[in-house]
Amino acid sequence: MNFAIIGCGFIAKKHAQAIQNIEGANLIAVCDRVPELMEPYVNEYSAKPYTDLAEMLKDETIDIVCICTPSGTHAVIAEQAANAGKHIVLEKPIAMTLEETDRIIKATKENDVKLGIVHPNRFRPVAMKLKEILNQNQLGKISHALCIINWNRGQEYYDQAVWRGTKEYDGGVLMNQAIHNLDLLLWYMGNPVEVFSMEATRLRNIEAEDVSMGVIRFESGALATVQASTTVYPKNFEESITIFGEKGTVKIGGQNALNFEHLIIEGIDEETSGKWIGDIKADPWGTPGHEQIIKDMISAINENRQPAVTGEDGRNALSLVLSFYESAKINKPVKR
Ligand SMILES: NC(=O)c1ccc[n+]([C@@H]2O[C@H](COP(=O)([O-])OP(=O)(O)OC[C@H]3O[C@@H](n4cnc5c(N)ncnc54)[C@H](O)[C@@H]3O)[C@@H](O)[C@H]2O)c1
Repeated sequence: MNFAIIGCGFIAKKHAQAIQNIEGANLIAVCDRVPELMEPYVNEYSAKPYTDLAEMLKDETIDIVCICTPSGTHAVIAEQAANAGKHIVLEKPIAMTLEETDRIIKATKENDVKLGIVHPNRFRPVAMKLKEILNQNQLGKISHALCIINWNRGQEYYDQAVWRGTKEYDGGVLMNQAIHNLDLLLWYMGNPVEVFSMEATRLRNIEAEDVSMGVIRFESGALATVQASTTVYPKNFEESITIFGEKGTVKIGGQNALNFEHLIIEGIDEETSGKWIGDIKADPWGTPGHEQIIKDMISAINENRQPAVTGEDGRNALSLVLSFYESAKINKPVKR
């Protein structure tokens, strides 16, 4: 499979590394508005550089494009790529609005190309194990959950590029960072039917929120609270999800949610839970999420199935973020 990367900034490096790690995958082209940013890819991967996306998309040997541009540009670029017949690995958030999202999904369906969204946290060993526990109904009826992302992104992070922290191209902590955790929460808890949230811009000089707190009611009747911030001094403090069920309490956490911090389940003895904890501690990251997402896209094409994280999944995570924004704006709960 031949790949092209669109947008050669921070996250593009992970895509290139992932492509290199996968047998039979080749990075053959890159596109950015800034020619110098493409130089490492030309030198290290012999990728062909383009400043003109339309020109690059004419290359019929490109099978898959990885879209790594600012979030507010995803829709226009993804539609263009789909119309050129390319399969798409699209960075999160899928887009900034549901209208943009629906345009992307429509274009990929009309052109019969695959669309996979980069929510790599689903592939963390601890996240997959918790999903397995929930799928097997080991926690019984779920009472509630707690989702925390208290991180640090200093002013210098936002000042790196003009799009960061803007409502049109990036959003704040919810849209950029916590969307990964909200995606996991949806994966674990199902469909959200009501959201009540408050937000603030406390310490960073940005247009969007740097702190957000909210409560979600799920279709099942379970509740969850979410606390998200990029204002923590002086570094990332905690990323975690705790699920409280009638037969078990499980917390995945740490500075990044990579390990079990609490694992007590009725009928699971300490030896077994200790083994689960130990196995994950031995290799908490596992195969990098970006590599798994890209590998999965190749399999999805070969097997003609949906990718593991679909456009609909990306839409659901975005839609939840937008409900938080709406609730904070009108200062009332939002039904969904
Ligand atoms: N999945 C993750 O873990 C993760 C992590 C970081 C960023 N991201 C996402 O990746 C995207 C990019 O983030 P980043 O941190 O790499 O940003 P960045 O600013 O470092 O890089 C963006 C690049 O896109 C280029 N670009 C802008 N408009 C373009 C266009 N129309 N055509 C071609 N190139 C264009 C810019 O010149 C820049 O080099 C964002 O949507 C972000 O949310 C995801």
